[in-house]
Amino acid sequence: MVMKATALAHPNIAFVKYWGFRDEHDRIPANGSISMNIGCLSTKTAVEYSQSFKEDRFVLNGEAVTGRGLFRVQQFLNRIRQMAQKAVFAYVESENNFPVGTGVASSASGFAALALAGTAALGLALSEDQLSSLARFGSGSACRSIPGGFVEWQTEARTGKSFAHSIAPANHWKLVDCIVVLSEDHKSVGSEDGMRTAGTSPLQQARVMDSERRLDLCRTAILTRDFDTLAKVTELDSNMMHAVMMTSEPPLFYWHPQSLEIMKAVKEWQKDGLEVTYTLDAGPNVHVIATQTDVGEVLVRLNQFPAVIDILKGVPAGPARLLSSGYQA
Ligand code: DP6
Repeated sequence: MVMKATALAHPNIAFVKYWGFRDEHDRIPANGSISMNIGCLSTKTAVEYSQSFKEDRFVLNGEAVTGRGLFRVQQFLNRIRQMAQKAVFAYVESENNFPVGTGVASSASGFAALALAGTAALGLALSEDQLSSLARFGSGSACRSIPGGFVEWQTEARTGKSFAHSIAPANHWKLVDCIVVLSEDHKSVGSEDGMRTAGTSPLQQARVMDSERRLDLCRTAILTRDFDTLAKVTELDSNMMHAVMMTSEPPLFYWHPQSLEIMKAVKEWQKDGLEVTYTLDAGPNVHVIATQTDVGEVLVRLNQFPAVIDILKGVPAGPARLLSSGYQA
C-alpha cells in the first residue's frame, strides 16, 4: 500500500486582514479578509503515511521540528486521519524556497500544501472549498492559499462553510509585492498568540464593524483594477490592525522605526505619481505593493534605505497544486 503525495502552495499577503476570532475553537475569523497569493515564494510539502511508522515526524528545511511546531502539524494530521478513518503515522517533509530568516511567515503556504498533500496521500479527493475549509484549522490565512490569484475569505458562522474562494485569477492584475526585509528575527509574539488578545483592544470592535465596507471597497478595486482605491483601503486596513495590536493588553508593537520610515516614504512617492502602497503583517517587514509600470522606480528608491536587508519580489500566483500523488489501496 502506497500513501504518498507532494503539493506546492504560495504564501499570501492580505489587503484586508484577518486579526481575531469570532469563534476560536472553529477558527471562524472576526472579519472577512482579501489577499493575493505571492508567486516566486512557495512551500513544497511531501507527506507519506505508513503502517510501519511509530510516530509522526516533521522535517522543515532539512531540520527535524519538535515541540510546538510538531504539535501543530500533528493536530492537523489528526483531523485528516479522522476524515479518512485511517490510523497511520506520517512523515512530513516541507521545504520553503525562501530563506527562514526573512521574516516571511510560511504557515499559510505550509498548511495549504499540507492540507492538499496530506489528504491526497490518504486517497481523499476534496473539493477546493473543502480543502480551504480544512487548511484554516492549521493556520487561518492558509485557507486563502488554497484558491488561486486574488482570494476572499468570508466570515461564516457555520464551521463547514468558512472557506476562501478566488475573486480574480492570478493574471487579472500584475501587481508586484516587494517584501522589504528589515529584520531577520523570529517574531516575539506569533500571530496565533497575538490574535487571541485582539478583543482586549477597545478598537477591535470598530475595526470589525467597518470590515464589510473595506471588503466591498477592496473587492471592487481589485475587480476594476482601481489602484488608488486599493491603496487607500490597504493602508487603512493595515493601520487599523496595527492600531488594534498596539492598544491590546499586553500591547504589541510589531513594526520597527524603519518600517514607519518606509511607510512614510511610500506616501511621498504617491505624491510623485507612483502607483505604490504598503501593508504590514504581524512583523516589521513592509510589503510594498506596486504596479508593473512603477515597480522598477519603487525598487530603486527602496534600495536607498540602509536598513533594507533584502527585497523579495512576487507577482500574483495560482492555487495550491498537487505535484505528485501515489495513493494505491
Ligand atoms: C497579520 O493565519 O498566521 O498575517 O490562524 O493563528 O495561524 P493563525 O494566524 P495567521 O494570521 C495571519 C495574520 C495576518 C493577517 C492576514 O494574513 O490576514
